[in-house]
Amino acid sequence: MAKIKKQSKQKYPNLKSLRRFYSEYKFKIVGFILLTAVASSLALSFPYVSSKIILNLTEKKWDTMVIFAVVLFGLIALENVAGHFSDVYYTKTTNGLFFSFRKSLAYKIIDLRLSSVYDKGSGFYLERLNEDSKEASVVFLDISKAIVTLIVNLAFIFYISVLNWVLGLIFLAGLAVIIFLEYLRVSKLLFNKKQSKRAVEKVKALESELLKGIKEVKGLNAKDAIVEKHSQVSKGHIDIKIRRERYEKRMQRIIDITKGALDLTLLLVAGLFLLKSFGIWHVEILAVLVIYQYKGSIYELVAGLAKIKNHYVNGELAAKRLNDVLKAAAEETDMFGTETLEGNVESIEFKKVVFSYNEKTPVLKDISFKVQKNSLVGFVGKSGSGKSTIFSLLTNFYKISGGQILINDVDFYSLSEKAVRETITPVLQDPYIFNDTILNNVKFAKFDATNEDVFDACRAARLHDEILSMKEGYDTVVGESGANLSGGQKQRLEISRVILKGPEVVLFDEATSALDKDNLLQINALMKELKKNKTVFVIAHRLGIMRECDTVFVLDGGKIIASGKHEDLMQTCEYYKELFKRNKSNEEQANRNV
Ligand SMILES: Nc1ncnc2c1ncn2[C@@H]1O[C@H](COP(=O)(O)OP(=O)(O)OP(=O)(O)O)[C@@H](O)[C@H]1O
Ligand SMILES: [Mg+2]
Repeated sequence: MAKIKKQSKQKYPNLKSLRRFYSEYKFKIVGFILLTAVASSLALSFPYVSSKIILNLTEKKWDTMVIFAVVLFGLIALENVAGHFSDVYYTKTTNGLFFSFRKSLAYKIIDLRLSSVYDKGSGFYLERLNEDSKEASVVFLDISKAIVTLIVNLAFIFYISVLNWVLGLIFLAGLAVIIFLEYLRVSKLLFNKKQSKRAVEKVKALESELLKGIKEVKGLNAKDAIVEKHSQVSKGHIDIKIRRERYEKRMQRIIDITKGALDLTLLLVAGLFLLKSFGIWHVEILAVLVIYQYKGSIYELVAGLAKIKNHYVNGELAAKRLNDVLKAAAEETDMFGTETLEGNVESIEFKKVVFSYNEKTPVLKDISFKVQKNSLVGFVGKSGSGKSTIFSLLTNFYKISGGQILINDVDFYSLSEKAVRETITPVLQDPYIFNDTILNNVKFAKFDATNEDVFDACRAARLHDEILSMKEGYDTVVGESGANLSGGQKQRLEISRVILKGPEVVLFDEATSALDKDNLLQINALMKELKKNKTVFVIAHRLGIMRECDTVFVLDGGKIIASGKHEDLMQTCEYYKELFKRNKSNEEQANRNV
């Protein structure tokens, strides 16, 4: 006995551990169980009272028939009142539990070690916060309901057995067969569900990365690669889903056939008993009973009409939500032309460019400059002066509201997506690093690159040796958002991506802000190296690199207020001189503090 008890204790330990959440709802749960029992017991009396009505009808005993009809109506009303309040308790309890699970999970996730959160990834947690919480919140009440219904049905079978043991036996046998089939169905589905949940986690994690890393995907023109990866995980999920649905539908058919056979047996046996007890005249009762069975179909006919409407309403809403994305307005979609770029990028020109993010305050006002190839060009200005905005225009993340951008004297917006994205690449300050190996993260910029190409790019970005010193080298998994890398390592990984990709125009936007002095000097040297066959734009936190630039543009309030070489600007532009001096003294201060 003790052994059995121990075994049963180990069953469903996880479900049991959630008990503490239920205590708040114990009165509602008891209310739900009692009301469900009342409702299903009342429902059981309907066929009996109905049979009395039919019997009195065929015997033309109108008074008794009316009494039974009133009783039936009263019972139906009572059953629905009890059902209504049991529904109220169900809704309040399950949604309250859903809320509590989510809240506790949210608190707990924040308390978890960062490494654990980053390693598991967002899909793992999102699925638990939503789907699993929802399922766990209904399980207890659903089980209670199933048990209550089972008990009431068993009591009914017992009652039938007392009246007529053959009928009772048939009921019991039917019930046993159906329980067995349902058991089979559930155990197989459980296994499939585990697989399915893991697959869903993967899809969700990738989808969240796709959204978080969207700038990276556009900037590196890795659209096809990421969609291909998404299709792979999505296909894995869909395959499991198909297997489950096919199995579920097949089992449902088998169960329906069994139920039909049971119905038929009961009808025949009940008919035989009726004939035996009442004689041949009561065959009419049997006919009425058979017709009575069709009433369900008549109601379904009416319900069918409502269902059609319901399908339309649901479908329309779902289709609208899909179209919100699929048919996003043209002004919400990246706009490109169809022209290809002839030859190399010889010049980049802004002609009286005006731009604002929100159509109210202009961020860039009348920006004009022309840059020739093989040059290193710096942009300097206070925070908010519009430096990054210029870069965002050159990657076509936003569209100008006035003026013109020209590449080789061709209108920038007439160029195709490939021409722009393969030629001009931003190096982001806070790059998005995918939850994958270092090798795959670098290859993200060029999927057909060889490992040797990746190593060379990482060498150029001064990252190779550090990667080799990691436990798993290039196969080290970096965690979600590259959480297991330092800020400087992430920035150098981003630089190695761009080197691997090899565009003609590179835009460094504060891409070296997290580097230590040694690495900074090396990357600055790399920029000079790159300009030998590229056009390099640079915005830098530390202004030292401006000394190396062929031209520096000084921005203030969305306008270029001066331009030229560093040494000249130091002579002619007070604003630049002041910025440079302050930057230098800040840096010296920072160095002293170190
Ligand atoms: N996505 C955006 N939506 C709306 N306004 C924006 C957006 N990005 C930037 N701005 C605004 O545009 C102005 C210029 O921003 P920008 O990022 O170009 O400045 P910045 O010169 O790069 O500054 P920092 O040195 O701080 O990076 C700022 O006033 C900023 O608030
Ligand atoms: Mg900026």
